[in-house]
Amino acid sequence: MLRNLIAKRCLSAVSARAYATKPVDGFIGAIGNTPLIRLNRLSQETGTEIYAKAEFMNPGGSVKDRAALYVVKDAEERGLVQPGGTVVEGTAGNTGIGLAHVCRAKGYQCVIYMPNTQSQEKIDLLRMLGATVYPVPAVAFDNPENYNHQARRHAERLSNAVWTDQFDNRANRRAHIETTGPEIWQQMGGRIDGFTCSTGTGGTLAGIARFLKEQDRNVRIFLADPPGSVLYSYIQSHGKLAERSGGSITEGIGQGLVTYYLQPDTELVVDALHFSVEKTFAMLYRLLDEEGIYVGASSALNVVAAVEMAQKLGTGSRVVTILCDGAYRYQSRLFSRKWLEEKSLYGAIPAHLQKYVVLP
Ligand SMILES: Cc1ncc(COP(=O)(O)O)c(C=O)c1O
Repeated sequence: MLRNLIAKRCLSAVSARAYATKPVDGFIGAIGNTPLIRLNRLSQETGTEIYAKAEFMNPGGSVKDRAALYVVKDAEERGLVQPGGTVVEGTAGNTGIGLAHVCRAKGYQCVIYMPNTQSQEKIDLLRMLGATVYPVPAVAFDNPENYNHQARRHAERLSNAVWTDQFDNRANRRAHIETTGPEIWQQMGGRIDGFTCSTGTGGTLAGIARFLKEQDRNVRIFLADPPGSVLYSYIQSHGKLAERSGGSITEGIGQGLVTYYLQPDTELVVDALHFSVEKTFAMLYRLLDEEGIYVGASSALNVVAAVEMAQKLGTGSRVVTILCDGAYRYQSRLFSRKWLEEKSLYGAIPAHLQKYVVLP
């Protein structure tokens, strides 16, 4: 009898959580509304409140599902693509994966150009999702053979095709003004001291910053920048410098140029934080060990930034960041001893966490 009662109570607790939301409409309806996770160990250790938006829980596995949906919707609304048409994009990976899913769900062909430096897992996944993939030599943006320009030319050669141009498409940032920002604001009960994240196109940072600042001017925005990106020097020098130091090995982030999104929004960003790759890799393994969270390097970098930001803002401060995607897409690198040693990163992983390096 008592056992039955306990079982019933447990079941009702689970049901209340699992069935709190209504069924959603297809893959598209499942994008967004991701959980906001309090990082317990890091919060406790720093005497602050550190929260991370679990964007790896989007149905295509990354924060870029939101941008993918918005750029396709925008192309439809503007009549740039008709049913059965083709969506072409130049992308280092996650936007392409989001687009490939959205295109299947909506019945479009998907064509992706990407630098051939990206992980094989991402290329394979795109092909499994039905996209046509062109890995092309990684050359600078001002070279006509850059993957973005090749994508544009491909769309121009076809009829009923659109180049979604994530780097220069307002719909990318709008996804975060209309969805991610409001979700964070609501999940935090309107009490946020700071937000920080790294940038690829800058859509996530700019969109969330814009929304949060409109709710509360006192929310502070810090940019998290990996080695190899020019943005740290750009923010620190108030737009006078754009200097590059080192190369980026953090897939999806780290820019050689100040993107379209960030230029008008740099006034929202009050500071930039810069970290060594070693710190990011140590955090990647700590998140796994201490919080049970399995994420890629850009997410780990974001968490390093959130911890530093919270410490700067002081005891009790409430800081939010983004967990962009899971580690599944990069595991052959991130958990390979050979790869880590080649990049001189094996030593950066604390000795007690090296047990997670299970691949040769
Ligand atoms: C893994 C990862 N993290 C972060 C980002 C950055 O997102 P955004 O383009 O909105 O700046 C990307 C972008 O593709 C990404 O793939």
